Amino acid sequence: MELNITCIPGDGIGPEIVREAKKVLDKVAQLYGHEIKYKDILMGGASIDVHGVPLTEEAVADAKAADAVLMGSIGGDTTTSPWYQLPPNLRPEAGLLGIRKALNLFANLRPAVLYEELAGACPLKEEISSRGFDMLIMRELTGGLYFGERKTVEENGVRKAIDTLTYDENEIRRIAVKGFDIARKRRKKVTSVDKANVLDSSRLWRAVVEEVAKDYPDVTLEHMLVDNCAMQLVKDPAQFDVILTENMFGDILSDEASMVTGSIGMLSSASLNDTKFGLYEPSHGSAPDIAGKNIANPIATILSAAMMLRYSFDLDKEADAVEAAVKKVLKEGYRTVDIMSEGCEKVSCSKMGDLLVEKLHK
Ligand code: IPM
Ligand code: MG
Repeated sequence: MELNITCIPGDGIGPEIVREAKKVLDKVAQLYGHEIKYKDILMGGASIDVHGVPLTEEAVADAKAADAVLMGSIGGDTTTSPWYQLPPNLRPEAGLLGIRKALNLFANLRPAVLYEELAGACPLKEEISSRGFDMLIMRELTGGLYFGERKTVEENGVRKAIDTLTYDENEIRRIAVKGFDIARKRRKKVTSVDKANVLDSSRLWRAVVEEVAKDYPDVTLEHMLVDNCAMQLVKDPAQFDVILTENMFGDILSDEASMVTGSIGMLSSASLNDTKFGLYEPSHGSAPDIAGKNIANPIATILSAAMMLRYSFDLDKEADAVEAAVKKVLKEGYRTVDIMSEGCEKVSCSKMGDLLVEKLHK
């Protein structure tokens, strides 16, 4: 089949890791007889440097015209980069928020898996990590505090900042449906996370999730308060299958969950709308401190490309093959510096890409 993929190499290590993902996708295409057409667009700091804004209308149009978008990472060092001298709506992150909204990517899937081969990197006590874990955070991505009205005013000489947290029932329902659908393909458990003991938006969240749950009698639903969830993630991560939550809570909990795996350089993500279209990116950031050194771990981006094959193109066999190649390379002891451990062979970003291409078989 023909795959039209728009790429956003972005900033920091973005261009290096996207390059490796393309290598792997090209091998998939060659093995399985597909044709891939790539188009690169600028976003974030890379777009600011050229166009003065983090996202142009042309870039959005190019993204919309594709079947899927593969992204590296955007943003720079917030204390030293000149991008952060700009007003907030012109900084790199505004480009990311803008494309999420423009493409209606309301469902953000962030798997956090403890890889057997990398269990030693898990910062938790062995009695906890030995149970393993495999969860998926389903984060609402186009509503809540991120997109509510905000302003900073001065009243009687006192500065005051206002951010608003709004959800309507339709926004909650559509993400809940995505959460239950995916739970059905996994271990059939949804933990809906909110702050219903304080927030109205959370009380509505809980009520709507309960309604949606009625259509999924085979899926177990539990509710958990967000502070408790933050604690449970380090105490007993094995209890989670799908964590369903709103935008801000999902931002925080997904960083925590990925850190708990000990290998954030391995974690992929997908942002989907209600069609097959999606934007796929690693869960980690742009790591400006190691950019250009060819030492970044490209695996999270490559696994994001595998998610793209699975969700946007229904190419499950191809996605399986990519995931199997990753397992194989890890089993054979090859590691980028972030996941390096004694007795393994340290490899560069491009070497990791080459190894994955080599191990990829039909
Ligand atoms: C993420 C990031 C973004 C977010 C930032 C860069 C705006 O932290 O994708 O989790 O908060 O959503
Ligand atoms: Mg985040």
